[in-house]
Amino acid sequence: MHLALLLCALGALASPLQQQPLLPHLPTPTLKPTPPPYNPSVRPLVLWHGLGDSYASPGMLEFVDMLRDTHEGMFVHSVRINDDLEKDQKAGWFGDLNEQIEQVCEQLLNITELQGGFDAMGFSQGGQFLRAYMQNCNSPPVHNLITFGSQHMGVADIPMCKPGDIWCLLARSAVKRGVYSSYAQHNLVQAQYFRDPKQYDTYLSSNRFLPILNSELPPHTPPPFPLDTLNSLVLIRFTAEQTVNPPVSSHFGSRPPENDTAEIPMREQELYREDWIGLRKLDERGGVFMLMCEGHHMQLEKECWEPIVLRWTGGKREV
Ligand SMILES: *[C@@H]1O[C@H](CO)[C@@H](O)[C@H](O)[C@H]1NC(C)=O
Ligand SMILES: *[C@@H]1O[C@H](CO)[C@@H](O)[C@H](O)[C@H]1NC(C)=O
Repeated sequence: MHLALLLCALGALASPLQQQPLLPHLPTPTLKPTPPPYNPSVRPLVLWHGLGDSYASPGMLEFVDMLRDTHEGMFVHSVRINDDLEKDQKAGWFGDLNEQIEQVCEQLLNITELQGGFDAMGFSQGGQFLRAYMQNCNSPPVHNLITFGSQHMGVADIPMCKPGDIWCLLARSAVKRGVYSSYAQHNLVQAQYFRDPKQYDTYLSSNRFLPILNSELPPHTPPPFPLDTLNSLVLIRFTAEQTVNPPVSSHFGSRPPENDTAEIPMREQELYREDWIGLRKLDERGGVFMLMCEGHHMQLEKECWEPIVLRWTGGKREV
């Protein structure tokens, strides 16, 4: 099926594996005609696209269609920072994450179909952003949170850019000039989840997003809505991941400062052991699922997404 191919670009942090330029000139939004009337007894779904993508790219629209084919009548909302596709794509590189999350809190609060709660599915960086929504706003509340190839413990390197990907090249060179500078922390999205274990103190004092999301700053005050507020947290990591560094970040792991190949798995993280954000509590009641999908970053084959979509989305909603 050609779908898997299309979805390679979904949520892609720029990867050397993808040779196509990233949607250089986006057409005006081609949103599908009004979908069939939604069924309020099916729990709705909210998607947050990945870097290099937009809320209504051809890949996203096709994925939404597949979701609606799987769960007839399911209401699906695709998060956007800007209604304009090109600006929405750019907002994946440039902007202030705290402001973006706040904007999305207002956006979701305003959608009547979502009242009563929804499942949330984030692609790549969209995964940790939906977690930020959930931990800080959660109104309406998230039932299951599903993240594909996300960076819950940040990234220790910025991915390589495809030739000609101007936003990527600009962002990457700015990050190289100083990832923890005030400019980067207010304007470059990837800098705001850059977590270099070799510069952990600088990360803690300068990063404006991830240390707060993960309650890494003493006294480790839990977020307004800790993760055990969720029904399930589903974390998907790709077997041939080459974009997220380290790949174990998709499973809430990181690297120790002294070894560039070793992994500290989720259950050995201080964040988990001390339970700063409710992750341990959720795990101990069986609510954390760590899955692997075959392929490179965001290579969403049907064998990968379908069982997940069937099990954790489209459930029955009390109305
Ligand atoms: C809320 O919805 C109304 C009506 O659809 C719209 O005019 C307004 O811009 C929305 N506000 C936000 C913050 O999205
Ligand atoms: C780094 O970690 C890898 C994988 O766990 C291990 O095989 C290797 O011996 C470690 N290297 C050092 C210098 O500790």
